[in-house]
Amino acid sequence: MTDAQDAVTRIAALRGEIDAHNYRYYVLDEPSVPDAEYDRLFGELKTLEAEHPELVTPDSPTQRVSGAALAAFGTIRHEVPMLSLGNAFADENLQDFDRSVGKRLREEFGETDFAGPDSGVEYTCEPKLDGLAVSLLYEAGILTRGATRGDGTTGEDITANVRTIRNVPLRLQGEGWPAVLEVRGEVFMSRAGFEALNARAMESGGKTFANPRNAAAGSLRQLDSRITAQRPLEFCCYGFGRVEGGALPDTQYDILQRLREWGIPISRELRKVQGASGCRAYYEDIGQRRDALAYEIDGVVYKVNRLDWQGELGFRAREPRWALAHKFPAREELTELLNVEFQVGRTGAITPVARLKPVQVAGVTVTNATLHNMDEIARLGVMIGDSVIVRRAGDVIPQIMQVVPERRPADARPVEIPTHCPVCGSAVERTQLIKRGKGKESVSEGAVYRCVGRLACQAQLKQAIIHFASRRAMDIDGLGDRIVEQLVDRELVKSPADLYTLTYEQVVELEGFAEVSSRNLLAAIEASSQPTLARFIFALGIPEVGEETAKRLARALGSLQRIREALPEVLVYLPDIGPEVAFEIHNFFQSAHNRDVLEALLANGIELADEGEVHAEFSGYATFADFLDQLHIPYLGKTGAKTLATAFPTLAALIEGSQDWLTFKTLSGLNERAKQGLREYFAEADNVAQALAIEAQLKAFGMHWESTRQVVQGLPFAGQTWVLTGTLEAMSRDAAKERLEALGAKVSGSVSAKTAVVVAGPGAGSKLTKANELGVKVLDEDAFLQILEAQGQ
Ligand code: IVH
Repeated sequence: MTDAQDAVTRIAALRGEIDAHNYRYYVLDEPSVPDAEYDRLFGELKTLEAEHPELVTPDSPTQRVSGAALAAFGTIRHEVPMLSLGNAFADENLQDFDRSVGKRLREEFGETDFAGPDSGVEYTCEPKLDGLAVSLLYEAGILTRGATRGDGTTGEDITANVRTIRNVPLRLQGEGWPAVLEVRGEVFMSRAGFEALNARAMESGGKTFANPRNAAAGSLRQLDSRITAQRPLEFCCYGFGRVEGGALPDTQYDILQRLREWGIPISRELRKVQGASGCRAYYEDIGQRRDALAYEIDGVVYKVNRLDWQGELGFRAREPRWALAHKFPAREELTELLNVEFQVGRTGAITPVARLKPVQVAGVTVTNATLHNMDEIARLGVMIGDSVIVRRAGDVIPQIMQVVPERRPADARPVEIPTHCPVCGSAVERTQLIKRGKGKESVSEGAVYRCVGRLACQAQLKQAIIHFASRRAMDIDGLGDRIVEQLVDRELVKSPADLYTLTYEQVVELEGFAEVSSRNLLAAIEASSQPTLARFIFALGIPEVGEETAKRLARALGSLQRIREALPEVLVYLPDIGPEVAFEIHNFFQSAHNRDVLEALLANGIELADEGEVHAEFSGYATFADFLDQLHIPYLGKTGAKTLATAFPTLAALIEGSQDWLTFKTLSGLNERAKQGLREYFAEADNVAQALAIEAQLKAFGMHWESTRQVVQGLPFAGQTWVLTGTLEAMSRDAAKERLEALGAKVSGSVSAKTAVVVAGPGAGSKLTKANELGVKVLDEDAFLQILEAQGQ
């Protein structure tokens, strides 16, 4: 065989294999190879095609994105019109629909073959996806055209764009497809895709989209398909149009299954049901799972399953009599922004809250919506008096999605941040973001404004106490929001420390308290007085310190004393603690007020249950070179820091050497600018003092320069990533996670080749499948419990 023949064969084999992987991944949701293997095949195909450009065909998986932008979309005529659907908003509409379907079939067409409940008709049910309808044309199994719905008769030619959608097959799988096959479905964006897209846009200062539907529409109608290619669009087929040179099965359900076999993605939620009651059960089930779906839906669609019956029922105007869209209550409504008020949070952050003209959204009257921060107000461009679209989904607090600029009244006024705290009158300051690098600090303005009143501000005090008592912090059972309100309003509690000196006489006076409840509350407070260090640190409510960071601090530094004293430059040695968080921690403990509260807590009987030594995790984390790099000496990069670390045994020697002209002159591997920077840096007494203080603290904390950075061997599961999936019966996932972390493991939400172990309880799904495919070790709960026990957990 010639070289060219080899290439032809290999290219065909690669395309077949890649298409098959795509099919398993996008349509069956059962990937069969790790990403790396897929990438390798794809890379090989690309290389071969580059060597043999004459062998490139438009249906090759490498040819999704074409080169140039269009001046305008062409138009396409839909030979079979793309219709819309009749809507049902209430259960009665569904009943009427089913009744009239049954009646028509019986009375007008003499059908007798009914078996199910209600009308006896069988329907397919599937979610009504919130995206855009498109038509895809396959000729001889090759995708040749993609079109929007347009007015139903003529649409726009978006072939180049639909080709970029990863789960749209460029050619059909298997065999037996009609010579001409037009499939129809929805192009949409998953919630995760939408959020990632907006996050990227936000970062680069680009345009953000109000919802996944708009994002999908904006992405699909791009004249430059290279842009569409970067958007996380997906396709889901729900029907067909033209079919020539072949036939499809005779029910809606079987047709969709057949299309799926040919590689066309269909809904995983497609079901067959009987009568209106079957439809209703489906509607309710999906309605309950609506928020857990990966994409947004606005209802469900029912279709008469038998195609011959669909034909008999036909159309009324532009809507089929054999299908119905049963909508969920709308989640977005139009209303007016009456005012913006400011609330004060636990850390003093001033949060704007929208006061809205009351409006019914999904069955609930909405009067308020969050606005997050001033940046969000700027992003929305919202003014008081504006008409706005509010959205309420699940239990989430209503949100303003968009302003309707055309409706802005002449007297609309801008939203202004107050200069003083609306609760305590203290000054309001804008947070600053500190960036450090090359010996310089740059300060920029953050999005958050804070009341500087701290616990003297009643709003902050209440939130601080609520947080302090919460389940994952001190876990004081029964100390709910309303009780905290009363304790603070009656000035019985001025800081968390006062909780521990409350008396029976004080508590029993509170509204809603009697003898037993008072004793219970006091007992719960008492029971919380020996927390773990991690819980206590979390309970303090240090800005930016969540549960994970608190655990990290506690595990690494081992004692409250060390955490209190830790310099920000030392804290940054801990994984996941950046300069901003380090400064917040340090500032928190520097504040005289916070120190007083802390002392009072300890004086009032708080005892930490588990203080200990500095953990090996911490001491293993630095080298002398890292240390020098962290000092941010002007012009000294990582390599320079390494050179110095080899040339000088200690910091003292380096400081001395830096001021000695001769030593530095002979030092090789460092440029003049860096030498100069060093000399100047250490010529300043403050810098020397600071560097020595950091060094002293690192040493006191057990850091040893000799070690190179390495995974700490101290804990049995150090360096391992575990994944928990399915239901665990003996303990909650949180508890399992906590125990694994205590053994040094990281607990992740997704399985990869690097995962050490997957613990799979009943109901485990795709993560378990993936683990098995990748050959990752899988444990059931019993085996997991045995391992924990063996490790003393
Ligand atoms: S069937 C003749 N099924 O809803 C039947 N439509 O309101 C035509 N849609 O334009 C449509 N999910 O964009 C059908 N599972 C589904 C759907 C669906 C979303 C959209 C589609 C259509 C609109 C009609």
